Amino acid sequence: MLLLGLLALAHTASAIKNLVVFGDSYSDIGNVGIFTDNANWVQDLAYGWNVGLYDYAYGGATCDNSIEQYVQVPSMSEQVSNYVEHGQGKNMNPSESVYALFVGINDANIFNASRTQAVADCVSQQMQSLQQAYGAHTFLVLNLPPMQDSPGALAATPDIKQAKANWVVTYNQMLNQSVNSLDNSIELFLFNTWDLFNTVLANASAYGFTNTTGYWSQNPCTNSTYCPENPGGIMGANDYMWFDGTHVTSGMHKLIANNIIEAQPFGIQGKTVQNQYIVNRTAHAIPEINSQSTRISIHAITPVLMSVLVVIATAL
Ligand SMILES: *[C@@H]1O[C@H](CO)[C@@H](O)[C@H](O)[C@H]1NC(C)=O
Ligand SMILES: *[C@@H]1O[C@H](CO)[C@@H](O)[C@H](O)[C@H]1NC(C)=O
Ligand SMILES: *[C@@H]1O[C@H](CO)[C@@H](O)[C@H](O)[C@H]1NC(C)=O
Ligand SMILES: *[C@@H]1O[C@H](CO)[C@@H](O)[C@H](O)[C@H]1NC(C)=O
Ligand SMILES: *[C@@H]1O[C@H](CO)[C@@H](O)[C@H](O)[C@H]1NC(C)=O
Ligand SMILES: *[C@@H]1O[C@H](CO)[C@@H](O)[C@H](O)[C@H]1NC(C)=O
Repeated sequence: MLLLGLLALAHTASAIKNLVVFGDSYSDIGNVGIFTDNANWVQDLAYGWNVGLYDYAYGGATCDNSIEQYVQVPSMSEQVSNYVEHGQGKNMNPSESVYALFVGINDANIFNASRTQAVADCVSQQMQSLQQAYGAHTFLVLNLPPMQDSPGALAATPDIKQAKANWVVTYNQMLNQSVNSLDNSIELFLFNTWDLFNTVLANASAYGFTNTTGYWSQNPCTNSTYCPENPGGIMGANDYMWFDGTHVTSGMHKLIANNIIEAQPFGIQGKTVQNQYIVNRTAHAIPEINSQSTRISIHAITPVLMSVLVVIATAL
C-alpha cells in the first residue's frame, strides 16, 4: 500500500498534456498486444511525464506497407493517415502535445538495403503530415537499438546478423539526416536508443541485468503462483534485458523512458519511474522472422491473456 502511494506521487506541472504515439511492437499497448512482461516505454513515459497517452502503434508495423510489409497490420503511415482522416487530433492543442514516432524494428527484420533511405524518409513524411493536418510541431523520434544483438539475431546466421547490423547503422544515419532536415518550426528530440542499448550491453550488471543474450520467455514457468498466465520463468524479468528474441523486458523499457525523462526534452520536468508494477494487458511473444519468405500473420498467434490489475512486483 505504501508503494501504491509512491506510484501516485505528484508530478511537476508542464505545458505538455498529451503523448501521441505511432509505431510498432515496441510501442504497442494493445492494438495487437503488449510485447513485454509489464509496462513498456510508452506507458512509463506517459506516467513519468504525467500526460494522457494516445497510442496508435501496431505490433508488426513497418513505416509504410507500400515500401515493405512485414505482417498485415497498419503501418506507421497508415496509423498517421487514419489518425488524420478520423480527425483524432483536432481537439488536441499541438502546443500541449508531443508526437512520438518509433519504427524500424520490422524494417530491420527485412533488412533490404535498397529501401533504407525510403524508410528513414517515411518517418519525416509522417511528421510533415501531422504538422500539415494539426500544426503538430513537437516530435520525439527514437532511432533503432542494435537489433543485431537481440537474441533472435544472435541465433541467426552470421550473414543475417551482419546484414541486420548494417541496415540498422545506415538507417540511424539516414533517419538523423532526414528528420533534421525538416524545417525549423519543428521541435525535435531524436532519442539515441542505439547508444543507450550499447551502454547497457557494455555494463549490464550496473543496470541490474544478469542476462543479455537469452530471453525471459525462454524460461518455462515452474511456479504457478508467480507466473500463472505468462510464458515467462520464475526468474524475475528484471534480470533479463530481453523479453523474447526481438523485444526487451519492462526493465529495459523503463530505462528508455527514464533516459528520455532525464533529458527533459521540450522543457518537460518529469519524474523518473522507480517502481515496477504489472499492468492489465494482453501480452505475447512473436517468433523471430529473418526473411520475407517466412513471414507470418500476427493474428495466427494465440495471445496469452494477462488479467492482473495493479500489482507491485518489486520496488527498486
Ligand atoms: C529490395 O528492395 C528493392 C527495391 O524495393 C527490390 O527491388 C528488391 O527485390 C528487394 N530485395 C529483396 C531481396 O526483397
Ligand atoms: C545526429 O547527427 C549529429 C550530427 O552529425 C550528431 O551530432 C548526433 O549525435 C546524431 N544523433 C544521433 C541520435 O545519432
Ligand atoms: C559501469 O557502471 C558503473 C556503475 O554505474 C560505472 O562506475 C562504470 O564506469 C561503468 N563502466 C562502463 C564500462 O561503462
Ligand atoms: C541467459 O538466459 C538463457 C535463457 O534462460 C539461458 O539459456 C542462458 O544460459 C543464460 N545465459 C547466462 C549467461 O546466464
Ligand atoms: C513462487 O513464487 C512466489 C513469488 O515469488 C514465491 O513467494 C513462492 O515461494 C514461490 N513458490 C515456489 C514453490 O517456489
Ligand atoms: C483486464 O483487461 C481485460 C481486457 O481488456 C478485461 O476484460 C478485464 O476485465 C480486465 N481485468 C481487470 C481486473 O480490470
